[in-house]
Amino acid sequence: MTDFLIAPSILSADLARLGDDVAQVLADGADVVHFDVMDNHYVPNLTFGPMVCKALRNYGITAPIDVHLMVEPVDDLIVQFADAGATYITFHPEASKHVDRSLQLILDKGCKAGLVLNPATPVDVVKPVLHKLDMLLLMSVNPGFGGQKFIPQTLDKLREARTLIDASGRATRLEIDGGVTPANIADIARAGADTFVAGSAIFGAESYKSAIDAMRAALAD
Ligand code: DX5
Ligand code: ZN
Repeated sequence: MTDFLIAPSILSADLARLGDDVAQVLADGADVVHFDVMDNHYVPNLTFGPMVCKALRNYGITAPIDVHLMVEPVDDLIVQFADAGATYITFHPEASKHVDRSLQLILDKGCKAGLVLNPATPVDVVKPVLHKLDMLLLMSVNPGFGGQKFIPQTLDKLREARTLIDASGRATRLEIDGGVTPANIADIARAGADTFVAGSAIFGAESYKSAIDAMRAALAD
């Protein structure tokens, strides 16, 4: 049986009381903290950097932190996030001149490495570096904002990525990010995803626990 991971995106958390909100969502059943880093350059929005990641660790958050870099360039921030306590670090291949080198940098810093593919980026791009990937993240919205609608064509890309990962024999996680809800999570899992980012569907819900429970129930069907 697949071990499914639910990764709330703190982009939609209450940033004025981030530590408490993250602790709450973990207590309510989340597995991983998804940490969206935007630089107003690679994407048209600006969020938070390594200091905030470090602050969460100092606050006592011990769950895996999944740092999704939407920045360009990536290498300096890879080092800073590794030092700040990141577990996974993923970046967009378009944002690094030397994708293999950036992946190796993440691994050398002792973190888990991943690539993120935008909706218009083909899955094939990862083939030459698949052996270095602990995570492959497919964007199901264009990156930059929470609360967008899931792009249905991503399901075909998930199937393609699942075939590639299974053929590689590596335990690379297949993550999906954007527009995930209790209503579509089962279809997304059937297409091959095992790790689910959800921002507005969890932090926008009246009860985080009910939203997470609804996702787990849909995954169990
Ligand atoms: C978008 C971010 C996502 C986003 C997901 O660029 O990478 O992680 O916060 O938010 P929802 O679940 O609201 O689509
Ligand atoms: Zn993200």
